[in-house]
Amino acid sequence: MPSPTGTLLWWGIRLSFLAGCIALVLRYQQQLPILDSPLSEADLPGSKDEATYCYDGVFTNTSPSGDLSYDEIKCFSVSSPDSEKGVVFTKLYSSPPPSRDVIHRKGYVLPGLWDGHGHLLQYGEFLHSADLFGCTSRACILDRLAEYLERNPEAGTPRNWLRGVGWDQNVLGEMPTASILEGDERLRGRYIMLDRVDVHCAWVSQGILDLLPGEVEDVPGGEIVREPGMGVFCDNAMDLVVKLWERPGKERKKEFVRSAMRELTRVGIVGMHDAGVVPKDLRMFEEMAGEDEGWKVRVYAMVECEERNTFCPGEAPWIKTGDGMLVVRSVKLFADGALGSWGSALIDPYTDRPSTSGSLLINTSALTAVANAWALQGYQVNIHAIGDLANRHAISSMVSALSALCPDSVESLADCQSRHRFRIEHSQIISPSDQSLMHKHGILPSIQPTHATSDSSYAELRLGPERIASSAYRMKSLLDLNPILGSDFPVEPPSPFEGIYAAVTRRSPKTGKGPEGWDQGWHTEEALTLGEAVRGFTVGVANGGFMEGKVGIIQEGAWADWVVLDRELGSYGVEQLRTMEVVETWVGGRMAHGESHEERKVL
Ligand SMILES: *[C@@H]1O[C@H](CO)[C@@H](O)[C@H](O)[C@H]1NC(C)=O
Repeated sequence: MPSPTGTLLWWGIRLSFLAGCIALVLRYQQQLPILDSPLSEADLPGSKDEATYCYDGVFTNTSPSGDLSYDEIKCFSVSSPDSEKGVVFTKLYSSPPPSRDVIHRKGYVLPGLWDGHGHLLQYGEFLHSADLFGCTSRACILDRLAEYLERNPEAGTPRNWLRGVGWDQNVLGEMPTASILEGDERLRGRYIMLDRVDVHCAWVSQGILDLLPGEVEDVPGGEIVREPGMGVFCDNAMDLVVKLWERPGKERKKEFVRSAMRELTRVGIVGMHDAGVVPKDLRMFEEMAGEDEGWKVRVYAMVECEERNTFCPGEAPWIKTGDGMLVVRSVKLFADGALGSWGSALIDPYTDRPSTSGSLLINTSALTAVANAWALQGYQVNIHAIGDLANRHAISSMVSALSALCPDSVESLADCQSRHRFRIEHSQIISPSDQSLMHKHGILPSIQPTHATSDSSYAELRLGPERIASSAYRMKSLLDLNPILGSDFPVEPPSPFEGIYAAVTRRSPKTGKGPEGWDQGWHTEEALTLGEAVRGFTVGVANGGFMEGKVGIIQEGAWADWVVLDRELGSYGVEQLRTMEVVETWVGGRMAHGESHEERKVL
């Protein structure tokens, strides 16, 4: 006999289930997108403490050889042996265990996928701003902004600038100016700030230019584009306009985070490395991770001081929630800017602009000093470096910090590095001798495979064929370093399957083509196998965030995060990867994306 409270609870569950069904049917009839599943698995009977799931197959990712076979495992139990420590896999089975209530579900399980380098708040903000990606003409940009204004008529005022992202002068065929925006009567007089595709430049409207003092002086480490007219500010010069912008308030930012997490779980992401969060936002993250409301994705966030490339340990919280939903123990530094805007620092001049070799955002002695300071404070040091000069400086500052951390130990710097795991974010253009140094010391490359395919056309122009062939966009050459793969969202779409496609084919997941519309990929000698690419988005990211054995893998004691596809991963044709649909995403034993059985019945 169930106890009276048990019966009440059961009816409570049934009633809330019924209400959920009705809400779902109503939403369905209104044709509204179903963003949150109204019933989470945690509400179902029997799953509060422990639940056992069976699927058609499970890829555990535990084979050291990295092969993609779906081993014998079909079922697993998840529970929270210690309520402070989150929900973990507790047992794996090759067939349904007879003694337990088993929830049978369709599909093939992968460990939850991670993005090793993204920007959570910026992605959320992107989801709430004008999307300019893919625009190849001025008219396209103006139309998208006008459409955005129609949907958000309150945007574009001095207190609420219209924000957008995704323009690229290389694709537009012209350098943007304020007067282009002013010339459109739908946009005239509005306050508009639009980020370049790589978020290393801002294009602003006349209203914002008018807020600047008459003569705008050049800024070291930045570029103010003056020809064919004013309007674009790059790298350090962006601060001139960004500091005038009234940033979104906390509630709005929380909305950004929730929207971003919802979208990330839709593409199979259970966790991400946030490549630079200022202390104030870290505290907001901490608040949200504790609330359990909308914080659906694990975040390993790197501290970025309010003033870039400085030392601010007093303001930077060191966080490790027991359930692994938020971890902060690393810092993000920046050696240079982006290649598209000639901002990356090169050893030799740009091929298509021999008068410049780009610029460092910080000189080598200052970079070494700040890297050492953070390292000695116990932080993992992660340095953004695109150009080969920036990578050289990043490596040398890391070697210096390792020597400081492990001064006269008998161990090699590589052993020291395996404990401190310094990483180079992007690792895009690295001279052969510096690649050797990375191998020697085990410095971790953090790589975005879709950057290679998106940049291929202009990278050839910027760097010339020799540097491309020896130094640029390495993946296979760095494979022994257990690379951390990611997307850099919102710079690229967050789907790890697009990243896997780009890594495997070195073709654009947007078009399925190589550079110049070729059928073959770009420098395919650097392509990875499917298994290697999957490792980059699972165990590579795990290692880069000190979470090996806990994430990117399905085994006893790992956090109960998984993703479900219709079929075994290896059975898809390679072209299907770039449009992969994820059926379910589970984080910490809870369904974050997907439909529960009961909802399917209703529909
Ligand atoms: C490097 O930068 C720091 C801080 O901006 C400055 O104080 C120092 O003089 C610079 N060193 C060199 C060698 O340029």
